[in-house]
Amino acid sequence: MKKIVTLTALLCTVGISMCIAQTPKTTKGLKDYYDKYFYMGVAVAPQNLNGPQADLILNQFNSLTPENAMKVGPIHPRENEYNWRDADSIVNFAQHHGLRVRGHNLCWHQQNPDWWFKDSTGKQATKELLYKRLHDHIFAVMKRYQGKIYAWDVVNEAIDDNPDNFLRNSLWYQICGDEFITKAFEYAHEADPKAILFYNEYNTERPEKMERTYKLMKKLVDAKVPVQAIGLQAHWSIYEPSAAELRTTIQKFASLGLKVQITELDISIFPWEKERRALRPGETFEYTPELQQKQIDKYKEVFAVLRENKKYVTGVTFWNISDQYTWLDQYPVRGRKNHPLLFDEKLQPKKVFYEVVNFKK
Ligand code: G3I
Repeated sequence: MKKIVTLTALLCTVGISMCIAQTPKTTKGLKDYYDKYFYMGVAVAPQNLNGPQADLILNQFNSLTPENAMKVGPIHPRENEYNWRDADSIVNFAQHHGLRVRGHNLCWHQQNPDWWFKDSTGKQATKELLYKRLHDHIFAVMKRYQGKIYAWDVVNEAIDDNPDNFLRNSLWYQICGDEFITKAFEYAHEADPKAILFYNEYNTERPEKMERTYKLMKKLVDAKVPVQAIGLQAHWSIYEPSAAELRTTIQKFASLGLKVQITELDISIFPWEKERRALRPGETFEYTPELQQKQIDKYKEVFAVLRENKKYVTGVTFWNISDQYTWLDQYPVRGRKNHPLLFDEKLQPKKVFYEVVNFKK
């Protein structure tokens, strides 16, 4: 009898310790190490908000961004119909646990519903119709979450990829010219005067794109458009940006009186590519010790520059929680596994995590 009891106790202990081993907890989280610096955030979907992923979020982060749930397509699928379910579940989770939320996003050339750019006869919408839609959409979404979402990416990615052009030749631009950017910020400020309004962009550290982004921000600031901050998306790689490029970028935007946030951070183990393509014959995607070390070096360098610039940088958000799921597994090469984050496929902190939190406060 005694043996059975001892055996049962042993099995329970092993069981408990296995559970503990699977719980992705470090003694302190990113948010604690960086509490004197900036908010530490993560992009999430509703399915991340329970079980071990929720534990990891609560242990590590103090800010959430909905990865897709608040984009116009998902949240406003038909003209007279909003789909609040996913966005509500993220905001409710954040409220319940005392996390901040960044709203993402209100005006973009991607992930719009089919009806958005068409009128009731199926023809291209006029500028006036688009502005009415934009106004009503921004008011509906921002009012619903007023006081619960502290910052919004109002306009996303308006600069063209081609350096010969200034703004992207999107339907927004074709129908409204550059004025749609101003309108979006004006409506957003009217809807929630307390929300911090962001322009959000990628590849902003590449000198040429930085100049065009600066030109846009300066134009908006000079015209007193209510934009208060810039989001550097930070879809970076082990090859870029350099410390000097990042430093210059942050300080250049700060010189306009803008706050800066890193809004979509991940550090790919592959060089950046814009166009989607298939996996090439013989192309491998092993996460070698050499690549891991390069990634550690880049993450350390990046966080050193961010800490140096803490008076301008108010938040850092990772784009996805762990290497278990990253949008970079499907982009630009479908099915090419990437490992761009600080937690591994089992939600455990990687070596790079310990390097990022190892600094003198
Ligand atoms: O929800 C549908 C589902 O119903 C459908 O069956 C399935 C079939 O493909 O697609 C699902 O939608 C996908 C959606 O993610 C949700 O998973 C879309 O196809 C897919 O294109 C979409 O990708 C998102 C992408 O934005 C769209 O451009 C990524 O998850 C998201 O991480 C990514 O985020 C963007 C930022 O918003 C802006 N900056 C760049 C960043 C990375 O592209």
